[in-house]
Amino acid sequence: MYRTRVFIFSAPILSLREIRVSIIERTVSGIAILQIDSPPVNAFGGAVRAALARGLAAACAAPDINAIVLCGTTLFSAGADITEFSGDKVRLKPMLWDLFTLLEASPKPVVAAVDGLALGGGTECILATDYRIATPSARFGLPEVKLGILPGAGGTQRLPRLIGPQAAIDLMTRGHTIDAQQALALGMIDAIAEDLLSEAIARAKAIAATGNRPTAALRRTDKVSGFDRAYFAEQRSKAVAKARGLAAPAAIVDCVEAACTLPPREGLRFERSLLDALRANPQHMALTTLFQAERAAAKVPHLVATPAPVSRVAVIGAGTMGVGIAMAFANAGVDVVLSEVDTAAVQRGLSTIGQNYENAVSRKAIDRDAADAARARIEPAVGLEALGPVDLVVEAIPEEMALKQQLFATLDRVTPQHTILGTNTSSLDIDEIAKTTSRPGKVVGVHFFAPANVMKLLENVRGSLTDDTTIATVMALGKRLGKVSVLAGNCDGFIGNRMLHYYSCSAEFMVEHGIAPTRIDAVAEAFGMPMGPLALRDLVGLDVTVLVRKQRMARQPLGTRTPLVVEALHAAGRLGMKSGKGFYRYEGRRRLPDPDVTTILEEHVRRNGFARLALTDQQILDRLLLPLVNEGAKELADGTAIREGDIDVVWSSGYGFPRHEGGPMYWGRRVGLERVKAMADELGQCFGANWMPASNLDGLLKSH
Ligand code: CAA
Repeated sequence: MYRTRVFIFSAPILSLREIRVSIIERTVSGIAILQIDSPPVNAFGGAVRAALARGLAAACAAPDINAIVLCGTTLFSAGADITEFSGDKVRLKPMLWDLFTLLEASPKPVVAAVDGLALGGGTECILATDYRIATPSARFGLPEVKLGILPGAGGTQRLPRLIGPQAAIDLMTRGHTIDAQQALALGMIDAIAEDLLSEAIARAKAIAATGNRPTAALRRTDKVSGFDRAYFAEQRSKAVAKARGLAAPAAIVDCVEAACTLPPREGLRFERSLLDALRANPQHMALTTLFQAERAAAKVPHLVATPAPVSRVAVIGAGTMGVGIAMAFANAGVDVVLSEVDTAAVQRGLSTIGQNYENAVSRKAIDRDAADAARARIEPAVGLEALGPVDLVVEAIPEEMALKQQLFATLDRVTPQHTILGTNTSSLDIDEIAKTTSRPGKVVGVHFFAPANVMKLLENVRGSLTDDTTIATVMALGKRLGKVSVLAGNCDGFIGNRMLHYYSCSAEFMVEHGIAPTRIDAVAEAFGMPMGPLALRDLVGLDVTVLVRKQRMARQPLGTRTPLVVEALHAAGRLGMKSGKGFYRYEGRRRLPDPDVTTILEEHVRRNGFARLALTDQQILDRLLLPLVNEGAKELADGTAIREGDIDVVWSSGYGFPRHEGGPMYWGRRVGLERVKAMADELGQCFGANWMPASNLDGLLKSH
């Protein structure tokens, strides 16, 4: 559904029906207003591009029109229509780059008036106009890099000419948004106005009256001279170092170099060739699919309930998780009561929060006023009786069922009947917790990832009795907290940790068969994981793994082999990063190989008589990732995960699986589910039934 409205002020009637635009008003002489109105985000789909081109042509042809104002609705535009990227949609002409060339070549001046967001092609569009004006709350960004591509509708050529190469590289390689004040300071826009349309019309009239049109971005040279090859070589290597395998950032630097060294037409040609190359790179489709999977994940099939209002939340436990969860709510403008067992504990939590906000302010991640306001939303409480009227409780106490059950029984007594009782457990049975309350329908898993104020994932877990309103409420929370929500079924480890078990154990089995931990981690990190599986064990704490494993071993089927390298290191007094020694030795957060680890592990291997394996890096990677896919398939089979995309969202947002690989299921399909099956057969023979191939792999193979 789209509409492109043209407001023609005192202009002759154009053949508007034919071009599917309509006259709304006629009050100001000589100005045509082209308004993009194509919900939900004014994306530049084929129909919008075509209508804009026709509107532009009509305004240019109308003798009484002297200038054009181009605007959106509550947002300007989220850029190119991402649904056109998947390939099966026919792309209608004009293409975006041709439309912007038309805009720049318009014989009548064009003023862009931006309210809300201008992203991607939205920002590229305004760069092709004569003058840019925005409301104080407008935001701008070129997030193409997050889809594995570059601003390929002239953006890489116009932006550096307007704001200089350094700021352009920063904006386009990071893909973040900036506000109107920053855009003005950079020279990306020319003015900020509260009364957007009036100011835009006034400016359009003034330009038309004087005939004094600003120099088009592509013809500007002042900001792009004086940068040599060495400058771009340095920019490129910085971009590559940060990219963790993503191809687009280096290509963006190449394009900016072209903007600084080539004539505009050649620069545009160069940009197009790199855009085409990136579009053909599988990273682009992986990232685009993930973008769509994130939006799909928030939608639970057949769920029609309306979310309950949540204005005040209690967080129980002021340890690392509790503090992060309290900050996540406070940052989103929700009042929080943070409860601990005694004053000292709650004060410790508050002081961590204070410190975290100070750090965020000094890193410029948040401004001082926003930090102070968020901090003021967190109110301390000792015990549970003092929680007051809260709509939602999130429990973040240690992972022990008996403790959680006791807490939920008390929460059931002290909170109002409508209060949703959420547990941040990362693996425990939601039903076991719910049964200690009189409201199992209001008990739900709300699994945050550490640090909870930063990590983007909220894995919600449905117990067998959790009601639809509760599910709708916690699913809506994700968006409110700036996170992505995924709904998981109730099982050991839910979607993410259940799969993590196989990834980590596979790494540990390889260690038992003589592969060095440093090599396994290096392979995982070269693939793009932020941290290898064994370094991750150190971060979480080897004592934690030992404890969790003891409980898990009691539930495993007979004949399942358990890797015991963590236990061997733990028995030697190594607790991981917190004790400075685990799979590595630590100097602060710096991890270093430790010859003592080699000695302990060799002794463990010798004592158990494990055979040595000779594996290539590719085989190591396969042993890490293929079991993930196999377990993901089992989750789909038993309903723990609703869609393959949900699993990919969990792993990319919660575990740092490289986004440009699309998530484990997407990666698994790309490398071939036959390989998943073959690896599961092999590992199943060695390690037991849990590792055997998922029964639905053949079905999944046929389903695409
Ligand atoms: N094209 C098509 N659909 C889009 C879209 C786009 N560019 N951006 C968002 N949508 C859709 C979403 O898929 C979603 O659809 P459903 O309702 O069917 O799920 C709907 O719009 C609302 O989006 P969100 O749920 O994400 O809403 P939000 O308010 O949280 O966020 C947003 C809005 C900030 C615009 C966010 O959607 C976003 O970041 N979009 C991506 C913008 C982007 O990457 N643009 C660059 C595209 S590439 C380009 O423009 C240039 C080029 O040269 C190739």
